Amino acid sequence: MRRVTALPTLSVGLGYRPQFRAELFENRPCVDFLEIIADQYFDAPPEKLAELDLLRAHFPLVPHGLDLSLGSVDGLDEVHVDKFARLIERIDPPWWSEHLCFTRAGGVAIGHLAALPLTRAALDTVERNVERLRRKIEAPLILENVTTVVAVPGAEMDSAEFLSRALERTGCGWLCDVANLHADAVNHGVDLEAGFPRWPWERVVQIHFAGGRWRGDVLIDSHDSPTAEAVWALFERVAAVAPVKAAILERDEKIPLFTELLDELERARRILAAAPPRVDAPPIADAEREGRNAVGMSPPTPNDLMATQNTLARLFTDGGFRETYFDHAGETSASKDLAALDRESVALFAESLANKRVADGRKTLPWTAKALGNDFARLLRPALGGPAPPRRHADDAATVVARMEKDPTVPTWILDLARYELGFVAAATPGLVCTAKRLRWPPARLVRAAQEGGHPGPLKSCFAVWLRWPNGALRHLVF
Ligand SMILES: [Fe+2]
Repeated sequence: MRRVTALPTLSVGLGYRPQFRAELFENRPCVDFLEIIADQYFDAPPEKLAELDLLRAHFPLVPHGLDLSLGSVDGLDEVHVDKFARLIERIDPPWWSEHLCFTRAGGVAIGHLAALPLTRAALDTVERNVERLRRKIEAPLILENVTTVVAVPGAEMDSAEFLSRALERTGCGWLCDVANLHADAVNHGVDLEAGFPRWPWERVVQIHFAGGRWRGDVLIDSHDSPTAEAVWALFERVAAVAPVKAAILERDEKIPLFTELLDELERARRILAAAPPRVDAPPIADAEREGRNAVGMSPPTPNDLMATQNTLARLFTDGGFRETYFDHAGETSASKDLAALDRESVALFAESLANKRVADGRKTLPWTAKALGNDFARLLRPALGGPAPPRRHADDAATVVARMEKDPTVPTWILDLARYELGFVAAATPGLVCTAKRLRWPPARLVRAAQEGGHPGPLKSCFAVWLRWPNGALRHLVF
């Protein structure tokens, strides 16, 4: 068993995003470590794994998971766990992280982080899943607090108690997202300062900080703006009492000049440097048996939780089901608690899921998205009415291109550009050896037209080919 204080100090770093790879290496001394999105390296093509090895050669890396769904009463997806275990073996990090949430239920992939019901049954589920996880992954795990957009009725405790108990029972450290804590306090009218001593600060290993965005009167953890002053104040407050080993700036959208990110890192570094050293942190890594005894297990009857999670997953991803459910005021609800579910917050969560898929689609087909502008969302949004598909990014990209093909208002050259970008998506499919696209314009002219807002000029047909050599290298040819 290792104490938080025995973990190495990594200081201050960035959530790695390929968009700023060049600037990152130009400013190597200013970034102490990187957090990588683990899921992006599962089933990854060789060039993505080469990127991972390059990052590892220059920075300490901490993998951050999105889709283990540690709170799913359905249990863990063992195939997903095996992929995570292989990644951890490859990079040998000092610790790794996941979210205290669920991302799927009843066979429905939500595609985003959904807050758990604050109940003993949910704690039992998390403990059970983490115990199973530890049979395959020994590296210390830290759990992140997510924002609660939809508060599930029937809570048996508040968020501070739920988190404290979850960490005690699993023996995990805390990845304290101060922006999420702030957003929840603002959105749910909680006085964080008044309840400050009730949070498990002694278990903090790492901090996440980021900027959010107001949507109506709700603060969303959008990671698309500079960190707000109120979040910086909370960061300082936490660093003064918690054994923080590391802090990561998360920036996913509207990425600014790299120097602005570096300024935020420098401010975080100053805060951590000013914090007093801590020596009295509790053990983490292995499940803490005394924690389990102190809290006690509730009866092993997860049926209610399963029904609740299954219903929530459908409400978040199925617009038709959502309308019917709320129009009949909970007659169809799986449990009496869910009858009190707030329709507006469920709709907001569903909306943010759809927005996230559109944003991810923009990253998968960046030139097409630039050429289409707002039409990109118009084309993709109607196709987002169901659960997230298994290969979400690739499948959503294929969907948008299929819709473009049927839409006579889309200029032919932009359709050509989209088909060209889809070639790269297809070339990253595991096991695919060769793919080819016939284009009406050379790709260089298509990309320049998107870049400059012009037109690719006269027709000049060509073939774009992607070949995967036996050694894994990707060869791309245009002729
Ligand atoms: Fe976070």
